[in-house]
Amino acid sequence: MITEFLYAPMEGITLSRFRQIHHEMFPGVKEYYTPFIAPDSNGGFKSKYLRELTEDVEQVRVIPQLLVNNADAFCLTAERLCALGFREINLNVGCPSGTVFSKHKGAGMLTDLTALNALLERICSHAERAGYQISVKTRMGVRSTEEFPAILKIYEKYPIKKLIVHARCRDDFYQGRADLKGFAEAASGCGLPLVYNGDIAAAGDLEALNAAAPQIASVMIGRAAVANPALFRVLKGGEQLKRGELREFHDRLTEAWMEGGLSPNFTVERMKTLWSYMQAMFPDNPREVKTILKSRSMESYRSAVSVLLSTGLFQPEAVNAPTH
Ligand SMILES: Cc1cc2nc3c(=O)[nH]c(=O)nc-3n(C[C@H](O)[C@H](O)[C@H](O)COP(=O)(O)O)c2cc1C
Repeated sequence: MITEFLYAPMEGITLSRFRQIHHEMFPGVKEYYTPFIAPDSNGGFKSKYLRELTEDVEQVRVIPQLLVNNADAFCLTAERLCALGFREINLNVGCPSGTVFSKHKGAGMLTDLTALNALLERICSHAERAGYQISVKTRMGVRSTEEFPAILKIYEKYPIKKLIVHARCRDDFYQGRADLKGFAEAASGCGLPLVYNGDIAAAGDLEALNAAAPQIASVMIGRAAVANPALFRVLKGGEQLKRGELREFHDRLTEAWMEGGLSPNFTVERMKTLWSYMQAMFPDNPREVKTILKSRSMESYRSAVSVLLSTGLFQPEAVNAPTH
């Protein structure tokens, strides 16, 4: 039975202002994961990351995620994050992007399991000494999800707080269907606390997960939660998103990003990324959505959003069609 919901890291989206406003308006997410932080080899990271990490209000439980393949860089960064008060750090073993993969980071770490093992050994013993915990977000393989049992054997050697499994291989990127069956088979004998991730959008998906892997209590959701900000509430049996809530969420986020120093034009670009997911709630208004996605100034953006939000056929349940 699923009792815990985690918000997936989404680069350019699940930033601190987003996390705060989402948490205030739609409480019920246990943890928000930051988009990956890529430190340099000395554990240094850009001040924009630092600002992001210190902005969250205390009630929002945030887990910073690191994209790094070097144990020293991980440990040095972890020490800086511990000094900021964080006690769990997430390792990204899932990013499929070509530039990341070719540097043996993200899902690229799955190409060399000996190196992954060595890295885990170093960082887990550092975590024990320094007093923090490590969680991992992983893909199930590079070429195929059938690689997962061998990968799992490595993770199982370490005291990982939770292993979040995006049930795809790297070569899938975000295409095709997540391999729930393969995940469930591997999960059945696994001694680590597992979190399922991939294509959860509806109560029916949770039922399919529960039927396949009844011992799993925790899910992480990304794209469908961006498409419908009330998704977690809906999945817990609560009310569907209302048009007024969408308007408030949208307006608060737009203002917050500008207040945080983002220029109006960059804010428009960021909000358009959100609309590339939220448009799923307006399946009968492709023309109005296109006007939003093509707008270049804050003025034209606001007027396009106002048209869609006041005249569009609002169908939030369209996001919640089962995918499994
Ligand atoms: C635009 C975008 C940005 C993402 N950024 C990250 C990231 O920074 N770190 C990470 O581990 N995963 C990232 N992911 C992957 C998601 O966290 C999640 O694993 C994936 O979308 C599958 O879950 P879903 O089907 O619920 O969306 C990203 C995915 C997308 C589409």
